[in-house]
Amino acid sequence: MEKSKFLPKKNIFSLKINDVVNYLEKQNINLKILNSLEVFGGSGETDKIIADKVKSFEIWEINDDFLDTLTRNFPNSKIHICNSIEKLQTNTFEQKFDLILIDNPMSVFGDKNNPQTYCEHFDILKNINKITNNETIVIFLVNKKPFYSKKLKQKNSEWKKRRKQFYGDIDIDNISMDFLLTFYKEYFQKIGFKTVFSKNILRHHPHLDYLIFKLEKNDSDNVRTFDMISLSNLIHNN
Ligand SMILES: C[S@@+](CC[C@H](N)C(=O)[O-])C[C@H]1O[C@@H](n2cnc3c(N)ncnc32)[C@H](O)[C@@H]1O
Repeated sequence: MEKSKFLPKKNIFSLKINDVVNYLEKQNINLKILNSLEVFGGSGETDKIIADKVKSFEIWEINDDFLDTLTRNFPNSKIHICNSIEKLQTNTFEQKFDLILIDNPMSVFGDKNNPQTYCEHFDILKNINKITNNETIVIFLVNKKPFYSKKLKQKNSEWKKRRKQFYGDIDIDNISMDFLLTFYKEYFQKIGFKTVFSKNILRHHPHLDYLIFKLEKNDSDNVRTFDMISLSNLIHNN
C-alpha cells in the first residue's frame, strides 16, 4: 500500500505502533501477505503504519465524520461505516483476516442514547472467531491501571463493574502484565484457539499496552463464542 504522508511527526501512539511492527518482523511474520482489518478505525492515524506494510487493509468505523479522511488516506482500503460490535454479533463472514487490529476506545462506550453499552475490547473479542483465519494475529489495547476522570463518576463506576465482570474478582485498578498475558491465553483457549506467541508492547506508561496474540484455530468446526469466563486459579495468583 502507499506510504503515509499525513502522520504528525511526533504522535507518540504512532511511534509505539512502530514497535509492534518491529516485533512482528522479528518474529519473521511476512506482513506483505496479510489481509488485515481494523475494527475501530477513527481517522486511522496509527493504523496507517500497519496498512502501509500489509497486503490489504479493511477499516470499520462507526462515525461517518471520518469517512472522507479515511477514503482520502486509505485509497486502497475497503471502508465500512458500521457498528463493528453489532456487525460481528449478527453477521456471518466469507472474508477472513490474517491480522486484526482492535484499537478500542477506553472505558465504556456506545451511542448517545446508550453511552455505556460496550467496554474496551471485551464485546468485540467474543465474536472474533467469525473473522479469523486458521492462523490470525490479533492486536488489542489493555489497560493495567485505568486513569479515572473526576468528572465522569457514573461512567467510571460502570467501567469498573465491567472490568470486574470480565477479569474476575481481582484488583482491576492494578493488573499485572503476567496476569493479562496468561488471562488472554486462557481466554483464547476457551474460545478454540491455541496461542502460538504473545507479547505486550507498552503504549502509554503506566496505563496502556498493546497485546499481540498470534492464534491458531484448534479445530475449525469447534470455535466458540462466549460471554463470561472464570479464571479462579489465575485470580488467586494475581
Ligand atoms: C481509539 S479510536 C481509533 C483510533 C484509530 N484506530 C487510529 O489509528 O487513529 C476508537 C474509534 O472507535 C470508534 N468506535 C466506537 N464505537 C464503535 C463501534 N461500535 N463500532 C465501530 N467503531 C466504533 C470511535 O468512533 C473511534 O473513532
